[in-house]
Amino acid sequence: MDPKAGFEITSANGSVWQASVDVVAFATFGDPAKDSVFKSADQALGGALADIAAAESFEGKPGQTLVHYTGGKVAAKRVVVIGAGPRTEFTNANIRDVTAMLAQAANKVRATSVAFVLPTVGAARETQLVQFAAEGLVLGTYRFGRYLTSDDAKRPHTMTKLHVYRDIKGSKLSAAQSRAFTAAAARGQTIAAAVNHARDLINEPPAVATPKALAADAQAIAKKHKGTVSVTVLDAKQCAALGMGMFLAVGQGSDEEPRFIHMTYKPAKKAKKKLCFIGKGVTFDSGGYSLKPSNAMEDMKIDMSGAAAVISSMDAIATLGSEFEVHAVAACCENLVSGRAYKLGDVLKSMDGTTVEINNTDAEGRLTLGDAITYARSKIQPDEMFDFATLTGACMVALGPYTAGVMSDNESLVRGWLGVAEKTGEDMWRLPLSARLREQLKSSIADMRNTGDRFGGAITAGLFLKTFAKDTPWVHVDIAGPASTSSNRPSQPKGGTGFAVSTIVEYASKS
Ligand code: BES
Ligand code: MN
Ligand code: ZN
Repeated sequence: MDPKAGFEITSANGSVWQASVDVVAFATFGDPAKDSVFKSADQALGGALADIAAAESFEGKPGQTLVHYTGGKVAAKRVVVIGAGPRTEFTNANIRDVTAMLAQAANKVRATSVAFVLPTVGAARETQLVQFAAEGLVLGTYRFGRYLTSDDAKRPHTMTKLHVYRDIKGSKLSAAQSRAFTAAAARGQTIAAAVNHARDLINEPPAVATPKALAADAQAIAKKHKGTVSVTVLDAKQCAALGMGMFLAVGQGSDEEPRFIHMTYKPAKKAKKKLCFIGKGVTFDSGGYSLKPSNAMEDMKIDMSGAAAVISSMDAIATLGSEFEVHAVAACCENLVSGRAYKLGDVLKSMDGTTVEINNTDAEGRLTLGDAITYARSKIQPDEMFDFATLTGACMVALGPYTAGVMSDNESLVRGWLGVAEKTGEDMWRLPLSARLREQLKSSIADMRNTGDRFGGAITAGLFLKTFAKDTPWVHVDIAGPASTSSNRPSQPKGGTGFAVSTIVEYASKS
């Protein structure tokens, strides 16, 4: 399951209208009549483009494209115009969609080489833009086709080359800019390949992406980065010896063996600090005896999206290098119903000794994570730890399907995290860890119970986890919504999204 990042991305000089490529592509910000690149293209094409734009109601809006056969008026066979919306609203996330659409349009006409005029959004953002443009290509060509048998689904993508023009004249880069360009293009492809890899893991059926399979994937990544990445995989017996009573209870109703995965990246030089990323790895969540109705269970193979994100991120982090020691931890198991499954009313003993009364077996994620957090806090002792979990439907009720809920009582850490998320364009929004809601987690026979009321469900889950994080700087990211999507977006087809990978990788390479 190792997707190859495979575009040859180069910086090009000279007039883009003279580029001998299959396709020349550019973004148009709103009204084409007011867009200088569009006007230049229209001129080069003898006025044809403006007519077509008018005829096809192309207004430069996001999601709109124009494909025009040039008939030899410019060197390229076709011009592809991509709507980008208002320039002032153009974020790093938007550029991914522009190049994702570009790649899709190019493949549709079986083009191999594309010249692309980089949108002008200010010199300060140019290098970042190259990175996100590269990400968009790799994300835009993603598809999960393993189980499709038609010829069409198996047809390979044709596009292999992207020639990037800084402007229509193809102004030259300085030597330093040129180095930055090459690094950014490679970086974007590496990150997007990790995102796509996470998507693969999420999209695989639950009978395939089992705890054992996730462990094997982590081992394959460690093997690829021999010398910098190592991995330890614990089985049920080893987890029992560590006292992971909550994690093991969730997995005990399944015939699939649980696996606790711990990956470590060590930089060559002395690490500046130690980071730990923890992912929820429930490979299928039936709800257990608090059984989900069929429609709610249908997508529950995605309940390991957090684990997929942290495991895949390690590949990119090792490729790009980091000044930090980086750990990825995932407690992986299946939440099923059987004669051995845990029950409502059971009292579990967690790795840190806390006892927990179960009043809902469907609130299983916090149990697996609680022990994973205790493991991280006590065995790894990181300077900072983050968890990513498809934890609560309540978080989607609060923030909608595209935004992750971020909870932490560490102001500077959470601000630093959200700042990186803003750069990578992943939607995250903070929710409070309202102390008063803790009363919902009181039990009369144990230290805590695992589930609170319906109102504030994302927050009580966060408060439950905080019990185990204790004083270690920690941020909780509930990705129940954005981990998967049911509506296509150019850079993000239906299914697993690989959400959090790009922010994790970016955060880990921050100085
Ligand atoms: N995996 C689910 C949360 C989820 C729901 C993720 C929808 C993605 C999409 C989680 O284990 C769960 O079942 N949570 C319960 C918690 C409740 C019982 C307190 C929920 O949200 O209903
Ligand atoms: Mn559940
Ligand atoms: Zn779950």
